[in-house]
Amino acid sequence: MRKKLIAANWKMFKTPDETRDFFREFLPLVSDHERDEILVCPSFVNLPAAVEAAKGSNVAIGAQDMHWEKQGAFTGETSAGMLLAVGCTHVIVGHSERRQYFGETDDIVNFKLKAALEAGLTPIACVGEVLEEREAGLTEDVLRRQCLRAFHAISAKKAAKLVVAYEPVWAIGTGKTATPQLASDAHLLIRGEAAKAFGEEFAGQLRILYGGSVKPENAKALMAEAEIDGALVGGASLDPKSFAAIVKY
Ligand code: 13P
Repeated sequence: MRKKLIAANWKMFKTPDETRDFFREFLPLVSDHERDEILVCPSFVNLPAAVEAAKGSNVAIGAQDMHWEKQGAFTGETSAGMLLAVGCTHVIVGHSERRQYFGETDDIVNFKLKAALEAGLTPIACVGEVLEEREAGLTEDVLRRQCLRAFHAISAKKAAKLVVAYEPVWAIGTGKTATPQLASDAHLLIRGEAAKAFGEEFAGQLRILYGGSVKPENAKALMAEAEIDGALVGGASLDPKSFAAIVKY
């Protein structure tokens, strides 16, 4: 049985004070929740406040991005070692917004994945097609390419902590959720690519999250799919009640 991971991606929202307010309200709502793992990924400046607020709780804290080098002259960047030092356990890698707006390529995603795994962080590698690709019947090709390149030259042993998130770009922030069946089909394909890269046994244990307009109203149906091992939630994770409702689907 794969334990589900319900993760919040706060994107560029909230200040440290708002982060503390969130946890004050959120933690009591999920304190008895053991069925799933819970993760919150705030922006870099909010990480210390989040780690402090979540200390001793059942909620882990992760970052939304990282650089693949250990240190160096890379203005504005943050390394895996820095994330670990402030108490992060997870990091999102290759989110479609990084790919779309910040020129992140499949190769960069691969470098970041390798560095995160090497450092002992749990990376959540994001893949997903844009609307034009889906409409042109290219979804499978795109997902295969993104997985192949993301997983390149990583051994199954090194990849042990890897988590993948399928986030169809047309479903992000649009209110258009993938149907459970559509998401399930994409997850099967991704699992197949993981089997090619890391072996069947690894693929059987790999957690693949769904992301894209997950809300309290649709979480149950999505999470009921055997292929869906959790959620990566944007907008609906900003409100403590709404994110708790998703966690407790
Ligand atoms: P929304 O839940 O706002 O659609 O965002 C999804 C997402 O991008 C999570 O990483």
